[in-house]
Amino acid sequence: MLIRRAPRFTASEITDPKLYLSRRELISGTVAALVLRPGQSDGATPQGQPLSATRNAAFSLSEPATKFEHATTYNNFYEFGVNKDDPSRLGGTLRPRPWTVQVDGFVHKPKTFDIDELIRLFPLEERVYSLRCVEAWSMVIPWIGFPLASLLKRVEPTGQGKFVEFTTLLDPSQFPAQKPGFFGYSSLDWPYVEGLRLDEATHPLTLLTVGMYGKVLPNQNGAPVRVVVPWKYGFKSAKSIVRIRLVSEQPKTSWEKAAAQEYGFYSNVNPAVSHPRWSQADERRIGEFRRRPTLPFNGYADQVASLYTGLDLKKFY
Ligand code: MTE
Repeated sequence: MLIRRAPRFTASEITDPKLYLSRRELISGTVAALVLRPGQSDGATPQGQPLSATRNAAFSLSEPATKFEHATTYNNFYEFGVNKDDPSRLGGTLRPRPWTVQVDGFVHKPKTFDIDELIRLFPLEERVYSLRCVEAWSMVIPWIGFPLASLLKRVEPTGQGKFVEFTTLLDPSQFPAQKPGFFGYSSLDWPYVEGLRLDEATHPLTLLTVGMYGKVLPNQNGAPVRVVVPWKYGFKSAKSIVRIRLVSEQPKTSWEKAAAQEYGFYSNVNPAVSHPRWSQADERRIGEFRRRPTLPFNGYADQVASLYTGLDLKKFY
C-alpha cells in the first residue's frame, strides 16, 4: 500500500515452501497437542484448533480455495510490519485469549463480550468469499463466522448511529510495529480503525469472522475476530477487533488519515477507478500466475450495487 520496503529475501525464496511449512506446522501442531486441549486457553489459542461450522452454499463461491499455506503466509497486517511474511513470522506475540469485544455507541444494550461467549452466541457458518487487496492480489477463502447484523441486532441500535467503527487492539507488547521507533514503522495512526455505513455493516454479506479453513483464525489473519467485507478492498476488513461502535459521523479511518487521496472511505472494488499509482483493472489470485479481470464490487454487484444507487463512485471511491 503506501509503504515502501527495502528488497529482502523471504523464507519462501530460500526454502521450498512445502518443506518449511510442513516443518513449521509439525512443530506448532505437536506443541499444541502436547500442552493444550480444545477450549483450554493459555493466552494463545492453539493454531489449528478445529472450529465446526455449516457451509452456507448460498454465500459460497464455487471456485477452489487458495491454499491454506498461501492464505496464511502472504498477508498485510501492518501491526507486525510491512513485509508480506511479517504477520506469519512475527504473529506469535499476539495473545488471542483472553479477549473481549466492546460493542457500544448508539445502542440500547451496550455490552462487552468475551470472545468465547461471542463464538457460542450465534450459529457459525462457513462461506467461501474472495477478498481482493488494493495491491491487486486476491484470495478465495472458506471463512467461518456469522453475520455482523446478528450481533448489531442483539445490542439494539437506537437509530442515531449511521456508521459502524471497528477498532483493532492497541498493545505494543503484542504488536511490534506499534512500538515507537520500530524498524519500518509505517505512518499509520494506531490503533487501526476502519468503518462502514450502517447499511453496509448490516448487509447479509458482511461477516464477523472467527475462523477459516475449518479452524480458528490464525494470528496473522486477524485472530480472534475480524470482519470480512468481500465487495470492498481488503483493508476495509479490520483484524483483531476489540471494539465495534455505532457512531453518527463517518469514522476517520487509519488509511484515510495516512493518505486520503489513495484510500477512500468506501473503497468498493472498482476496476474502472485506478489507484493513483496503479491500475485496479485486473488482479492475480495468490497461487496463480495469470492475471484475471477484476469484477465490479469484486463480483458481488448483484447483491450490493443497490446500496450505492445515486452515489458517484468515482468521487466516493
Ligand atoms: N487489519 C489490521 N488491524 N491491520 C492491517 O494492517 N490490513 C488489511 C486488512 N486488515 C490490516 C487489517 C489489508 S491491507 C488486507 S489486504 C487484509 O487485512 C489482508 O488480510 P488477510 O490476508 O488475512 O485477509
